[in-house]
Amino acid sequence: MGQVEWAHGLAKDLLATALPRRWAHTQGVAARAMSLAPILGDETDTLTVAAYLHDIGYAPNLVDTGFHPLDGARYLRDVHQADDTICRLVAHHSCAVNEALERSLFDELTVEFDEEQPVLVQALTYCDMTTGPDGVHLDVTERLAEIHSRYGPEHLVSRSITASTPCILAAVREIERLMAVGA
Ligand SMILES: [Fe+2]
Repeated sequence: MGQVEWAHGLAKDLLATALPRRWAHTQGVAARAMSLAPILGDETDTLTVAAYLHDIGYAPNLVDTGFHPLDGARYLRDVHQADDTICRLVAHHSCAVNEALERSLFDELTVEFDEEQPVLVQALTYCDMTTGPDGVHLDVTERLAEIHSRYGPEHLVSRSITASTPCILAAVREIERLMAVGA
């Protein structure tokens, strides 16, 4: 079984029944990842694996700290001995470091999981932040507004997204630029 099939199956097992909307989003993010093949080439599968697994930390039976990038990355590292690149991408997806600061989990996140190469980090952020909660494509500004309205202005996630917005926009613009020039 290939890594993409493995990741698809694992995410489906963890999310499809427990969190069907999150599973719909996940499938949309994975489709976006595959669409980046023109700029990622051989690394498209790596990104697609990370896309399938990026939100498994929401699965009720593996929530630990409640910070889903860290819970998901630790689960992949400790239970599945997943590839370091995949664990790092999941740990840091969509500028997670800002939510880690809000949750006082910055040291845990950054000591346990190094940053990955920027283009893959930015590509995963691009895929997540241009896919809505039901898996349909959204412009990044619509996606940011959707997160704010879903959580409400006082929520920790909304504060974190505000702090992450420059990082998210930079990632989306960079991937769009690379797709436009085909490099
Ligand atoms: Fe996420």
